[in-house]
Amino acid sequence: MAKYNLAVLPGDGIGVEIVPEAIKVLEIIGQRFGHQFVFTQGLIGGAAIDAVGVALPEATLELCRQSDAVLLGAVGGPKWDTLPARERPEAASLLALRKGLGLYANIRPVQVYPALVQASTLKPEVIRGVDLVVFRELTGGLYFGEKRREPFEDGELAVDTLIYTTPEIERIARLAFAAARRRRNKVTSVDKANVLESSRLWRETVSRLHQSEFSDVQLEHMYVDNCAMQFIRYPLQFDVIVTENMFGDILTDEASMLTGSIGMLPSASIGGKVAMYEPAHGSAPDIAGQKKANPLATIVSAAMLLRYSFQLEVEAQSIETAVVKVLDEGFRTGDLLEPDKILVNTEEMGTLVAERC
Ligand code: IPM
Ligand code: MG
Repeated sequence: MAKYNLAVLPGDGIGVEIVPEAIKVLEIIGQRFGHQFVFTQGLIGGAAIDAVGVALPEATLELCRQSDAVLLGAVGGPKWDTLPARERPEAASLLALRKGLGLYANIRPVQVYPALVQASTLKPEVIRGVDLVVFRELTGGLYFGEKRREPFEDGELAVDTLIYTTPEIERIARLAFAAARRRRNKVTSVDKANVLESSRLWRETVSRLHQSEFSDVQLEHMYVDNCAMQFIRYPLQFDVIVTENMFGDILTDEASMLTGSIGMLPSASIGGKVAMYEPAHGSAPDIAGQKKANPLATIVSAAMLLRYSFQLEVEAQSIETAVVKVLDEGFRTGDLLEPDKILVNTEEMGTLVAERC
C-alpha cells in the first residue's frame, strides 16, 4: 500500500474548521483506492504565535520539508492585527513558508460549476462555461521586497520595494505556457507596463520566452486595470493568465466571484520539492467558530494535491466529481445559498462530499 506523508497546517479562524473536512475526504479516498495518508499537524500563524511565540516555528518548516505535500487552512485574525507588519501571521508565516519551500508558482483555477451559475452576482450568460486558470508569481514582487518606515516632516514615510528578475519571470511564464498547451493554448500575461519598470521587464521576458520556446501558444499582453474590468465583462475570453504576485492576489479574489463565492477557489503552490495546497480565501474571522465556512475550496485543493504531488488523477477526479454531485443535489453552505437550496454546515458539506467519493 502506497504511503503518503502530509503536513497539515490548519492555522487560524475557519482554517481549523475546513481542513478537517478535506482530511475526511482524503481518508475516504485512501480507503477506497488503497492508499495510506499519514497526517501530521503543525502550528502556523496566530495559533503558533499564541502557542510558541512565533508565527512559523522551525519545527513546522521542518515538518513541511520532510513531508510529501502540505495542506494549509488559513492564517491571521483581528487578535494579531496590531502586530508590526513583519510579525503578523500573513507575512511571518504564510509568506515565509512559501519562500522557505521555494513555491514560486501559485495556480488558481477558476471554474464555474453549472449548478452555481445562478449563485454568482454576475449574469448567468456572462459566467456560464468559465474555465480559466491564474498562474500567480508567489515569491517575488512587493510582498517580498525591502520595506521601511521613517519619520517624514510631521508624519512618516513608508517604502515597499517591487523587484523582479528575468529568471523569476521566466520560470513562472514557462509553467503558464506549458499549461496552456494542455488547455486551450492561450496565455494572457497581465502587467502594468505603461507605468512600471518591473512590468516592462515582465513583458519583454514573457515575449522573448514565447518567441524562443512557445510560439505555438497564443500570447496576449493585458494591463492589469483592463484585466480587472475584462474579468467581469467577458471572462470567457481567458484561458491561462500569468501575472506577478500582487496583481495575482487581487485578480484571483475578483475572479473567485465568477464561481459564486470565494469559498470555491482552490490553489496549488508549486516550484519546490514539496508543494502546498490551500484555499485562496483567508481565515474569515467574522464567521469563524460557527460551522458556516464553505470547505469546498479546501476539499478541491486536496484534489489538486492528489493530482500534482502524487499523480493520483483518478482519485483527484473522484473528489471533483463528488463536489459536482453534491452541488447538483442542491446542498449549499451559507455563502452560496439560494432560496430553493438546502443549507448545510461545514461538517455536513464535508461528509456529503466524502460519501460520494
Ligand atoms: C492569498 C492571501 C495571502 C496572499 C495573504 C494572507 C498573505 O491573500 O493567499 O491570496 O496575499 O498571498
Ligand atoms: Mg489573497
